[in-house]
Amino acid sequence: MTAGNKKILVAYFSRAGEQYAVGNVNVGNTAIIAKLIADKTGGDLFEIRVKNDNYPNTYDALTRYAQAEKQAHARPELIGQPDNIYKYDVVFLGYPNWWGDMPMPVHTFMESFDLSNKEVHHFCTHEGSGGVLDGFAIYGHIAQNNKSESDKKLTQWLAELGY
Ligand SMILES: Cc1cc2nc3c(=O)[nH]c(=O)nc-3n(C[C@H](O)[C@H](O)[C@H](O)COP(=O)(O)O)c2cc1C
Repeated sequence: MTAGNKKILVAYFSRAGEQYAVGNVNVGNTAIIAKLIADKTGGDLFEIRVKNDNYPNTYDALTRYAQAEKQAHARPELIGQPDNIYKYDVVFLGYPNWWGDMPMPVHTFMESFDLSNKEVHHFCTHEGSGGVLDGFAIYGHIAQNNKSESDKKLTQWLAELGY
């Protein structure tokens, strides 16, 4: 769908299961924000998923797994890709802060396409380290538990971008 006549993609990586500060969740923090952005902009949602998903469902184990993946500069293989990514003018790209970085599957995603002619906006959830320069960052527990606060912050950011 479109805002004006721009075609918008909202691509995100997020984990359900046990997450810091929110306990066990059915929908990950970043997924909640991604859906809000898609609703507000009329964009198409795409979840970045890895092919061999061995990510643990418990928080401590997940942090260790992700740290090893980062140290190895892993580029996990992904499942599928957005239907014809080249038709989109705008990409909102969302992920949790993992060890001060994007999760490695998000690196795989970014390296899979030439996004240089697109308007790309990053958004991230975190639990204290903050997020991206020139992007949108929000605490994961606020994304998970405080819809009106997330909505207010997002509406403001999207308005600044013209959406
Ligand atoms: C592997 C891992 C590493 C993390 N590293 C950080 C970090 O360096 N800084 C931070 O503020 N939060 C960190 N967090 C917290 C997440 O960024 C936060 O809980 C986020 O909202 C999770 O998003 P999700 O539910 O979409 O996966 C980490 C969480 C995990 C699982």
